[in-house]
Amino acid sequence: MTSLKLSLFLIVSCRFTTYAREVLSENLYSFTTMAGASYSNEVQEIVDKLDVDVNDKHDVISALWRPVEIAAFPDNWTYYIEESVNGVVHRMNILVLSEDDYGIIHGQQYDVKRPIDYKPKQYEFADLTNVELESSTPKPGCEILFTRIERNVYIGTYLDCESKTHLSAPPPYSFTLTCNTIAAFVCSRSSFELYARLSYIFFKKERYALPAQWIEGVNYTDPCSLS
Ligand SMILES: *[C@@H]1O[C@H](CO)[C@@H](O)[C@H](O)[C@H]1NC(C)=O
Ligand SMILES: *[C@@H]1O[C@H](CO)[C@@H](O)[C@H](O)[C@H]1NC(C)=O
Repeated sequence: MTSLKLSLFLIVSCRFTTYAREVLSENLYSFTTMAGASYSNEVQEIVDKLDVDVNDKHDVISALWRPVEIAAFPDNWTYYIEESVNGVVHRMNILVLSEDDYGIIHGQQYDVKRPIDYKPKQYEFADLTNVELESSTPKPGCEILFTRIERNVYIGTYLDCESKTHLSAPPPYSFTLTCNTIAAFVCSRSSFELYARLSYIFFKKERYALPAQWIEGVNYTDPCSLS
């Protein structure tokens, strides 16, 4: 009888911990603080034209990685990601982040339902709360991984699940996140963006604060502050 009670207690308490929001770790705080921004690589268009020795050509891309609370995942660290090339939106995802026991950050990608005639950055922050997803399960085989290599440098592999080919294994991008930039190398010619010899370098334009609920009760220092 006692052991039955104990098992019931354990089942109930495990269910409890499974569904409550965890406390944001310092690692996830640093990553989400650093990644949360809008980005552009517009400077590269100029360099590409001038530096004939390199003879490179990059697409001109605007992207945003916006930390948001969404109704579909109230207990998770979620990001809205949007990317457009020359004013045409071709990526709208929700990224659900978690961290494993070894400090590796995992991200599951979900496609956002695209309203007809959606214009870049049309969704305002408030619109994102109830954003509709194409599916309630993540896109299979599209998990992204990031790991920290310095206090304020992360490297990662981001799988291109929007690529032009229908390969069973989506081609990857190699990412480096720093205080001012994200550098992304397009590893495959089948990816949506033009393949270039040099990495794409996206400068942060506008930074987004983390949702207040995420940082309740924690007191970490921004890894990019000078102190
Ligand atoms: C969302 O968070 C909950 C609670 O921490 C966790 O059990 C669940 O696996 C997370 N979902 C995803 C998609 O990571
Ligand atoms: C947060 O940390 C800073 C630096 O360690 C400290 O000065 C400050 O008092 C702390 N604030 C709270 C609310 O604990």
